[in-house]
Amino acid sequence: MTTAPAPTRIPTAPAAPAAPVTSPAKGGSPWVGRPVDRLDGPAKATGAATFSGEYQVPDVTHGVIVHATVARGRVSAIDTAQAEAHPGIVAVITHLNAPRIKPAPTRPNLLDLSTMVAGTRVAYLNTDEVFYDGQPVAVVVGETLEAAQYAASLVRVDYDVLPSRVAFEQELGHAEPVKQSLGMPTVAGSKGDADAALAAAPHRVDLRFTTPTQNHNAMEPHTTTAVWDGDRVTVWDGAQNVDWFRKHLALRFDVPLAHVTVVAPFVGGGFGGKGSVWSGTLLTVMAARVTGRPVRMALSREAVYRTVGGRTPSAQRVALGATADGRLTAIIHESTIRSSPVGGAMEQVVASSGDVYAAPNIALRSAVVELDLVPNTAMRAPGEAIGSFGMESAMDQLAHELGLDPVELRLRNEPTTSPLHRRAFSHRRVAQVIERGAHEFGWREMRLGDRHGPQVDESGRLVGYGMAVAYHPAWVFPANLTLRLDATGTALLRCGFHEMGMGTATVQSQLVADALHVPLSAVRVEYGDSSLPVAPGAGGSAQSASIAASITDAAARIRRSIARLKPQPGESPAETLARSGRDHIEVRVGSDTGVGATAQQVRFIAGFLRDQRRWVRAASGAHFCEVRVDPDTGETRVARWVGAFDIGRVLNAKTAGSQLRGGIVMGLGLALMEETLVDPRTGRIMSAGLVDYHVPVHADVPDIEIHLLDDPDPSMPAGVLGAGEVGITGVGAAVANAIHDATGRRVTHLPITLDTVVG
Ligand code: MOS
Repeated sequence: MTTAPAPTRIPTAPAAPAAPVTSPAKGGSPWVGRPVDRLDGPAKATGAATFSGEYQVPDVTHGVIVHATVARGRVSAIDTAQAEAHPGIVAVITHLNAPRIKPAPTRPNLLDLSTMVAGTRVAYLNTDEVFYDGQPVAVVVGETLEAAQYAASLVRVDYDVLPSRVAFEQELGHAEPVKQSLGMPTVAGSKGDADAALAAAPHRVDLRFTTPTQNHNAMEPHTTTAVWDGDRVTVWDGAQNVDWFRKHLALRFDVPLAHVTVVAPFVGGGFGGKGSVWSGTLLTVMAARVTGRPVRMALSREAVYRTVGGRTPSAQRVALGATADGRLTAIIHESTIRSSPVGGAMEQVVASSGDVYAAPNIALRSAVVELDLVPNTAMRAPGEAIGSFGMESAMDQLAHELGLDPVELRLRNEPTTSPLHRRAFSHRRVAQVIERGAHEFGWREMRLGDRHGPQVDESGRLVGYGMAVAYHPAWVFPANLTLRLDATGTALLRCGFHEMGMGTATVQSQLVADALHVPLSAVRVEYGDSSLPVAPGAGGSAQSASIAASITDAAARIRRSIARLKPQPGESPAETLARSGRDHIEVRVGSDTGVGATAQQVRFIAGFLRDQRRWVRAASGAHFCEVRVDPDTGETRVARWVGAFDIGRVLNAKTAGSQLRGGIVMGLGLALMEETLVDPRTGRIMSAGLVDYHVPVHADVPDIEIHLLDDPDPSMPAGVLGAGEVGITGVGAAVANAIHDATGRRVTHLPITLDTVVG
């Protein structure tokens, strides 16, 4: 039996920083707010960063999945003889010889976090049933990746095929209404009588929008390395949530929680695709148990598409009623998404439409249809990214029909309390970001300047300008941590958070440095390891604020202890410790024990629901863009982008700017390129890879200007609203609206391909 190597601690080696500079705008705070370089940058740039497939594990074997080739059915026969006979094959695992694992929880339960991250409910290799094309029906383990890959091609599987439903558009008639999701009223709600108000409105638009399935394409495809030592297992996995992964694996493999360690110090992008436990992770852990050898499974890009859920497609209706002077009288936003009989995420496509514009009558409705495809999952701004395409396109169309500037239409419908639920806004800066973006873009000069007919550039391309509002809720989750200040003047933060490229370790180090009055270079952070204090997953744009809350708490307790040591004037906290003969002070926030953690979760849920009823908290933004459309080919080039955002207080303009810019780049993919094509006859994903699924490349991305209000939200820890997801929100509509300005054509389907522009 192989001994699991000790979990690797994240090296935090801050580059030698310049002397602290007090930014005049930051009220004497030396680090928070500064555009500090990413602390993990040098490790990544030099290759020293170790990703989940890169750990040197002695005697490691390689696992490869054999995928089902039918959407629904049963495995009637499986012939592994040839594969087993291939040189270098360690094991071929199928439902006929796999060990039993515990079933997946049937539904998510906020009080049992092991239930929250089941990508699907399929009992992989514990059943002969097939629920989607691509489902693993065997795993081949080889001494080399090449041997395993070849032997996987030798496994012969026969199926009894059952009828399946795989085509979203064709199944819309089977959609069922959904009233709530995880206890939150984010998928349905109404005020007044929106249908009657729409019918009576002097002006109305009533549009249907469709958006396709999309898949995450993180630079690092999903990779797991698993090593069992007796009934203890160490799992290196590029997870967005080491704690929930650990709890889920302990449940499925029926071992004590303390026997599972999940390590993910570096994650090469996740976007929601690494937030759940998918089959690759489970089957790597199973294969390592079966073979008694360390197993690594690095999914091919195709295998990621076929076994990890993507973004749901949607069919939306947005209907707006308005008076002649552009006051909304009715907002109706309806959405149908997909799910699956074996899992899937409810996406709140319509949620923001209850918060963004004032109207006396509002109706939000959601429905879901189950398809026999790999279940959908969260993908950057799940819900809002596509819901905003419908809503913000409809607002643009209404402005056009009223002869109003789209900016002006939005400003005329700016609410004072949340329109649907009449809750207070904790802080509302939508009008400010619109004005700021319009100013920086030169919107009024360019869009409303002296225009006669279509504008054409020097190459004969049609020029258009578009804008859209971005809106994304802000959340705070419990984050446990320890914070230690040493008399030598160094600080250590230990917290099981995740760094998938956002700059989390950097901004949290900045907070620690300021709170404990130490230089940034004196702060060390340990993260990305489930043996650390439990922190929330990297999701929902909530990580920064959540950890900031606990750092603020911990630092205050340290400073209170220091105060009891009677600091001398001018002395730093570390100097006070040293003078008092104390070696260090360490405090812990939160409890990771069973009872303590449950009590904490109960308190959290109560507070969360109270906050939901009390106010609306959200990051917001306004996108402004310029497109050039070739009138002959329909090719759309995005020529310029300006985004103005309210993300509350800006901890680090460089990392926040990168988050927002990255969201916009991903939004350009959503607008113009990204589409997962599913064969409507077979349920097979036809574009399972970057050859056929297009994402923006450098040549597709214009200069992107980001402007930040840097205005703290008083209700949020450190004043921080999330930056990870608001950037992609509204991008699809901004592009579509610019295309409408250029061509007069209202595009209501994503992606906006050439044929939809000129066809
Ligand atoms: Mo997510 S979709 O990683 O919050």
